[in-house]
Amino acid sequence: MSEDSKPLVGIVMGSASDWGVMRAAPETLERFGVPHEYRVASAHRTPELATEWARTAADRGLQVVIAAAGGAAHLAGVVAAHTHLPVLGVPLSGWALDGLDALLATVQMPKGVPVGTLAIGKAGAINAALLAIRILALSRPELAEKLRHFHQEETRKVMEIELTMD
Ligand code: RP5
Repeated sequence: MSEDSKPLVGIVMGSASDWGVMRAAPETLERFGVPHEYRVASAHRTPELATEWARTAADRGLQVVIAAAGGAAHLAGVVAAHTHLPVLGVPLSGWALDGLDALLATVQMPKGVPVGTLAIGKAGAINAALLAIRILALSRPELAEKLRHFHQEETRKVMEIELTMD
């Protein structure tokens, strides 16, 4: 693997059932050409794997981590406890409560162990990727340029909307 293709963003999610929503994160990173890795590791079902993944994240060259889970969503907190990298948490809607459970579990970290928490679900997955890109863009002018272009395009799309009565 060349230096250029070494993953900079690591995405971890609690279950394969999260992938349908969370795939929006790697898709967004792909769009900006940001190398990344993703996998399932559960804070509850595979705690050693989740811990090891987080503990070795920086040594693997990752610079930002995205952690997503639903229900009693401890994954982002566990990851943040085992790495000094910025951790972006994405709460997911599980089998009840529409993701409010995961939102509170992810956002309510005790002081000293920060998790930057995004919106519930797909918007959070996309925004976590965009925020990771913003972080990386601080030291990568070419990424900052791509972000500027992205925002111009988003603005243009809204400006071009014409509502009709049809
Ligand atoms: C969490 O429990 C996962 O992140 C997932 O959102 C939720 C349900 O997991 P499954 O029972 O579908 O594997 O740990």
